[in-house]
This record gives sequence, C-alpha cells and structure tokens, in this order.
Amino acid sequence: AIDGVPVTPPMGWNSWNTFGCNITEQIVREQADALVVTGLRDAGYRYVVVDDCWAAPERADDGSLQADPRRFPSGMAALGQYLHDRGLKFGLYAGADDKTCTQFLGTYPGATGSRGHEGRDAQTFADWQVDYLKYDWCSSNADHDDQVSAFTAMRDAIRDTGRPMVYSINPNSGVAESVPGAEFDWGGVATMTRVTNDITPVWSTNADDSGAQGVIDIVDAVAPLASRVGPSAFNDPDMLVVGVDGNPGLTLAQQRTQMSMWAMMAAPLIAGNDLTRMSTQTLDLLGNRAVIVIDQDDRVSAGAPVDDDAEIWARAIGDKGLVVSLTNRADHPRAMSVSLGSLGLVGDATVSAVDAWTGRRYQAANGELTVDVAVNDTVLLQIA
Ligand code: DGJ
Repeated sequence: AIDGVPVTPPMGWNSWNTFGCNITEQIVREQADALVVTGLRDAGYRYVVVDDCWAAPERADDGSLQADPRRFPSGMAALGQYLHDRGLKFGLYAGADDKTCTQFLGTYPGATGSRGHEGRDAQTFADWQVDYLKYDWCSSNADHDDQVSAFTAMRDAIRDTGRPMVYSINPNSGVAESVPGAEFDWGGVATMTRVTNDITPVWSTNADDSGAQGVIDIVDAVAPLASRVGPSAFNDPDMLVVGVDGNPGLTLAQQRTQMSMWAMMAAPLIAGNDLTRMSTQTLDLLGNRAVIVIDQDDRVSAGAPVDDDAEIWARAIGDKGLVVSLTNRADHPRAMSVSLGSLGLVGDATVSAVDAWTGRRYQAANGELTVDVAVNDTVLLQIA
C-alpha cells in the first residue's frame, strides 16, 4: 500500500508496553543503545517506535504537532537523527481521530489527533525523518466508512510526502464489542493492521471483560486471517511479551510459543520489554536466528492450522520449504504427531525435520513425524 517499505515483517521495539506515558527521549536512547549492544539490531530489530504520549497536549501556533518539551526537550528530529546514526529506524505514534488514545481515555491531556490534519502531520513526520507511523483509532465510533476515510487519508498523505513509512494501523482501540481490524482486510491501506485487542502477558484471558487478550487467544484469532498476508501486508497480533512480567505472566515455554507462532504468522516482531534489563533467556528467545529467518522468509506467506487443529500449523517457506509448529496446549507433556499426508507430503519415510529451537533432528516413521512437547511449549520443525 505504501511503496518503498520492507517486503518482510517489520522488526523492532515499541515503548508502550513497558513505559506507557512515562516515555522520555532518554529512555528511547537507552533502549536504542540496548538494541545495538545486545546484537538485536543486527538480528533485524531496527524500528524504534515511540508510542503514545510523546506529543505536547497542544499543537504549535502554526498548527503542527510538537513534542512534549518536558520529556523530549531535544525534539523529535534530533531523536530521529540519534536513531539513524546507529543504523536504526524511527517509528512514531499518532491518533487517527481527533485525539490520541490516552487523550480519548482521559489518561493524558490534550487533543492532538491527526484527523483533518493528515497532510500537515505526515509532512511533519517526514521532516523528522520518521520511517514508521503507528496510527491508532481511538474513538467509540467505529463506523466503517469513517474508518476507511480516516486511514486512507493518512496513507495518501504519507504517499504525498514521498518518504516511505511503514504504515501500522490499529482500527480497534476504544471500539466496544468488535474488532474492525479483523473484520475488514486493510491490506490495500496499511503495511500492518492490528487484528486483535491489546495483548497482555498471560497465556489466555479466557476472554475476560477487559478486552485484552493472551498469547494463545491471539493465535486463535489470527488463524482465519492467513490469506491476507503478503509482501508488505501483515496481520499485526501486537507486541511480543517475551521478557515481560505479568500476573501470572508467561512461562519460558509459553514465551517460546509466542515467538514461534508470531514467526508462523509472518507477524511483525516488535519487542515490548525493557531491553536494558534482559535476561539471557529473553535475549536468546528474541534473537534466535533460525526463528527470525522463518518470520522473515521473503515468500511472505503466513502459516495456518493443519486440518483445523489449533495446535498444529504449517507455513510454506521459500520455493518448496515447509515449517510445522506443534504447540502443546495440554497441562502435561505429551508426544504430538503430524501425518505427512496432512502436510501434502507423500508418505516418504526419508522425510526428516529439524527443530529451529533445539537443532534436534527428527525422522518420519510410519508416515508421521512425532515429537515430545513440554507443557505449552512449541516445537518448530523445518522440513527440508
Ligand atoms: C492502544 C494500542 O492498542 C496500544 O498498542 C497503544 O498504542 C495505546 N493505544 C496507546 O494509547
């Protein structure tokens, strides 16, 4: 929908889940530095996205958006320069209606949404060398035509600047009882579209009243939407919650499942944890090269459940490769099998597969591949 943006899913870090409205330029610089020193930048995590609450509550006298001078005293152009100097990309948030999300919710003052200011704001972002715009719908109004006109207006305004920007939209915030990002294919409008409500760092919320969703709830919500994914068009299942504390939070196995399934979905990999305080386990999950290679496959075809089995997904990779994920949703470790026939492979006993996480090799027997999977863990089989 916007030319010049990457064909494969964007990777990076976003400020919201850890810092919310307490974001400052100092924090953004520290997180950027952490991407570099940990090696995550070189693993592909390049976009540093400053989410809501960076803007001053009022526009400048000439009508343009301006940074909150208390928390971004050097200004956004300087922050963009800081990121670019380090081989990173600059992402910024704006609101598609007349308020940003926290302004709509009343948790942050002001009304600096971009509705009616699309041309001016897109040009401001281009002047600041922004590479990625997160554009959030926060309004109780979810009239479809209204959303189409708002999100299309900003797409056109970005195009008119001539600067390629990943266009990341969220049509769902503030909208009660529906998820407009999932109900309509926004692929002609946006680079990536949030298709669920906000992620929360738990395995499943069992659809509680908050609207927030756990990792496995999101996997199930995205499963039917695989055909929408293609070059520069992604379903956005929200941030990675790897390395994020929660109540009760996620086990290591559950975090491995999130990374695995986001790679199966060809989803953007946007870390949301504090990168300056990562355990080696967190770094190993986020930075696993074999899993990133799956996510970033340039055929850009998303995986989907095999025979409607929510625990077993397949994704076509490259010319003729295949990746199969087996997620154990039970509360006890168990052996899981997938038949070669269900994968479209002839019952050839010579088929073998390698788990992207462990490097362990498996050999098909009796027309099936069988693996042992720990509780809520995922084995990610690459079939050559
Ligand atoms: C709702 C979005 O879903 C979040 O990711 C975040 O951008 C907040 N809005 C910011 O207010």
